[in-house]
Amino acid sequence: MDFRRSIPADATGIAELEDLIFPDAWSYRDVQDLICTEGGMCFTAVEDGKVIAYVIGRLIAPEGEIYRVAVAPHKRQRGIGYRLLDYAVKTSKGQGLERLFLEVRSRNIPAIKLYTAYGFKEIGRRKNYYKDPQDDAIVMLRASAYDMQY
Ligand SMILES: CC(C)(COP(=O)(O)OP(=O)(O)OC[C@H]1O[C@@H](n2cnc3c(N)ncnc32)[C@H](O)[C@@H]1OP(=O)(O)O)[C@@H](O)C(=O)NCCC(=O)NCCS
Repeated sequence: MDFRRSIPADATGIAELEDLIFPDAWSYRDVQDLICTEGGMCFTAVEDGKVIAYVIGRLIAPEGEIYRVAVAPHKRQRGIGYRLLDYAVKTSKGQGLERLFLEVRSRNIPAIKLYTAYGFKEIGRRKNYYKDPQDDAIVMLRASAYDMQY
């Protein structure tokens, strides 16, 4: 398995996983646009030529935001999500990342566990932020050690 900054050719595999996993899937075009945009923070895990996990977000240094982290269903709970997130964060630090934000459904326990294990802290809640099904958003932040006053 290899981790890499996403390349345009990854958009097909990412969009296929989006369709499989999320009811509000990002389209191929949306994924490809973000991969190609300056400030796109997109990373892919590839095994045997297939995309098996991805992180997509945006970096406007020093702040970044993660929109999605996803692992193919048959590859979960093996540390791939954690390691890809770590790869994305460490690589993005070279581009000035200091504070990384995300929103997560309050009922998405696997994602909350992953983010908490990776050092994200809850900094707020948005009541009924999500629809279909309705859910609160937990806003989380992972900041550099010297920037923890946030
Ligand atoms: C959320 C998701 C990305 C997690 O991916 P994953 O590869 O299964 O996660 P990991 O295997 O890295 O982590 C699973 C567990 O190991 C822990 N873990 C893994 N590696 C670790 C490490 N090196 N150090 C500490 N903890 C670690 C995680 O905290 C988590 O804890 P748990 O065993 O108590 O559940 C995956 O479930 C998924 O794709 N879900 C659907 C999409 C989704 O909801 N994405 C989030 C919203 S966009």
